[in-house]
Amino acid sequence: MAEFIERLEELAASATAAFDAAGDTAELESARVEYLGAKKGRLKAVQKQIGQVGVQERPAAGKQLNEVKRRIEGAFAAAQERLDGGGAAAPASAARQFDPTLPGQALRWGHLHPITQTIEELKGIMGRLGFSVAEGPEIEDEWHNFEALNIPLEHPARDPLDNFYLPVVGADGGALLLRSQTSTVQIRVMENTPPPVRVISLGRVYRPDTPDATHYPMFYQMEGLLVDTHVTMADLKSMLRMFVVSYLGSDVHIRFRPSFFPFTEPSVEADFSWNDQWIEFGGAGMVDPNVLEAVGYDPEQVTGFAFGLGIERLCMRRHDIADIRDLFKNDVRFLHQF
Ligand code: FA5
Repeated sequence: MAEFIERLEELAASATAAFDAAGDTAELESARVEYLGAKKGRLKAVQKQIGQVGVQERPAAGKQLNEVKRRIEGAFAAAQERLDGGGAAAPASAARQFDPTLPGQALRWGHLHPITQTIEELKGIMGRLGFSVAEGPEIEDEWHNFEALNIPLEHPARDPLDNFYLPVVGADGGALLLRSQTSTVQIRVMENTPPPVRVISLGRVYRPDTPDATHYPMFYQMEGLLVDTHVTMADLKSMLRMFVVSYLGSDVHIRFRPSFFPFTEPSVEADFSWNDQWIEFGGAGMVDPNVLEAVGYDPEQVTGFAFGLGIERLCMRRHDIADIRDLFKNDVRFLHQF
């Protein structure tokens, strides 16, 4: 009996060591066959020796055998888990099932958002018309968003309810807000560049507008500014017409309506035709002499025009998108179409 138990213990120790040492599922499988194999396994061999134990002691020996068998099986299960990370199928069998001749899963390519595509295209058109690209911050001070643009303190456009003011102040103690128009960049460019200038600036602006099919509280504008000697309203109108035809095609009609902006005089609003309707896509005008003076230019020497266009509206007209909100829902089924 003692000898039988000793053999069982030796077997348990060496089986556990073999399972622990297995470096992959193939090694583990051969250790399993060696120790737990149904016909020629070493446990089976020891089991057969139970006949050599005295009849009286045989039940105890059988109990011991079962206990050792459970331990060895437990050690095997632990090794199996270690090797296949607890997964249901052993990698060895997964490897056998892998068929390299089957076609793989196609990768789904992403692409640029339609607004980003539009921005790139607009930059290309305006680049060919001689405009370079300027950048400006989305968090602005009141000088660049209002004052330098001839929008005085009492002007309704500065109403806190019509702007996203921030609960922090700038380094100079002045109020900060999310810019409500890209016209801020006109000021930043003119403050740092002597005339002539010919720039565009494209980016996000923010207004507490209620979302509907053509409005969103965050949207993109393309600002344009050209300052030189002898610039006239005729230059502005031809340039905008040329731009719209380049982007939307020659069958699009546009019209200019008299309007008012504090920073341009005269001012216009520009509409394009779409499904028998006129849709406003931007504001424009001749840069007000007060603005030229605010940035240190001499209005007697130079004149200029400026415009600010809604990028979503251009993109929507181009791709026949009926609702601006679809552009920002980030539903890939929608975005995938562009
Ligand atoms: C302006 O923002 C002026 N800064 C434009 C300008 C620039 C005039 C330079 C003169 C000189 P307006 O508020 O009209 O203007 O906005 C311009 C365009 O932005 C609109 O025609 C429209 O196309 C777009 N837009 C305005 N509000 C929204 C909104 N909530 N959602 C989407 N697009 C908008």
